[in-house]
Amino acid sequence: MSFAGRHVVLGVSGGIACYKSCTLARRLTEDGAAVDVVLTASAAEFVRPVTFEALTGRPVFTSLWERDRALVHIGLAKDPDLVIVAPATANLLARAAMGLADDLLTALLLARAGPVLAAPAMNDAMYAHPATRANLKTLAGRGWHFVGPEVGPLAEGPSDRPGRMSEPDAIFAAAARLVLQRVPWLGKTVVVTAGPTREHLDPVRVVTNPSTGRMGFALAEAAYARGADVVLVAGPSELPLPLGVTVHRVETTAEMQRATQALVKRADVLVMAAAPADYRPAESAATKRPRSDGALTVALEATPDILGSLAPRKGCVTVGFALETGGDGVAKARKKLQDKALDFVILNDALEPGAGFEVTTNRVTIIGKAGAPIELPLLAKRDVADKILDAVEQALT
Ligand SMILES: Cc1cc2nc3c(=O)[nH]c(=O)nc-3n(C[C@H](O)[C@H](O)[C@H](O)COP(=O)(O)O)c2cc1C
Repeated sequence: MSFAGRHVVLGVSGGIACYKSCTLARRLTEDGAAVDVVLTASAAEFVRPVTFEALTGRPVFTSLWERDRALVHIGLAKDPDLVIVAPATANLLARAAMGLADDLLTALLLARAGPVLAAPAMNDAMYAHPATRANLKTLAGRGWHFVGPEVGPLAEGPSDRPGRMSEPDAIFAAAARLVLQRVPWLGKTVVVTAGPTREHLDPVRVVTNPSTGRMGFALAEAAYARGADVVLVAGPSELPLPLGVTVHRVETTAEMQRATQALVKRADVLVMAAAPADYRPAESAATKRPRSDGALTVALEATPDILGSLAPRKGCVTVGFALETGGDGVAKARKKLQDKALDFVILNDALEPGAGFEVTTNRVTIIGKAGAPIELPLLAKRDVADKILDAVEQALT
């Protein structure tokens, strides 16, 4: 849980996108944040405070003038790790840019010295208006961060201009990066490979494996949250793509090799979390092979060894994965570490319940060049990703 122990104020102003802020409030809460919601009077017309109270499990703030809460705006400005304003209406942006403090949300924004992230949301003409442009520029000049708006349907109909509020997941990813970024990762390029690859027997049949890409996607998401520039080389995976990350889609092991070879030249960290197919049909038919009764014998040939073919820059921290099926895992992983000149090998056992393919959890052992192996308990893959990046971070500093 990336927001565990963090305090976030979610300011909500009165736009139609208020309904999406309910999802954002919940997502932040589920991820461990203490979320204090502050509604403008207009926002409370769209969504009642009790909705946010139920979603966050905390009282909601709507006024400067509530009994027993004198000076609450100062506490809400000073204490949180992050203030998010979503949606940020044209009116709210104008009031904040002018330095008005005529309600609780604007008063706390004026008293705020720490980071503010705003998600503008409004009619496309309102967003394009010179007054709004000037207000956004003023606020950006004062250090406000922005996410969106996007081009997409507005409440009043289709639009081909920006105005639509970013989706809650995108606001969440931008918020996580502001709260979790760490100095060693800033300006660093992290290349992650993820997912299976597919080798065609014919246009409709493939040799592949059950990898979902979840571990690699979690690593890409976690590296982005730490502040790195992340490039993900992804094989066929049904999962939603991590936000903020540049994605190169590939299908075969040879394509994954080519993409990775090109990217590794500028990588500061290389994490090879993909499960590329090790074998491919020696011949791939251009049209569907007809079905016939009896056995089909197919000759397979080895696919390229991606890791073995890469020449990372000197100083690039390289991480490989070793998926074993019981037995002598640590010894095999150590051999891989040496043979492939890796900095870390992440060992997991495909036969262990809750680990490996097709599950959301993993139990891994982190093996570095020096020191004892770090055996982790069964964890969510996102938490495993953070433990791996903690180890990489030591090597980066
Ligand atoms: C149905 C409806 C939808 C609205 N949607 C938006 C919107 O998406 N963005 C916006 O800037 N204003 C929108 N407005 C106008 C704001 O509610 C209005 O400017 C209000 O004064 C904003 O107050 P606040 O910024 O204090 O919350 C909408 C108004 C109505 C009635």
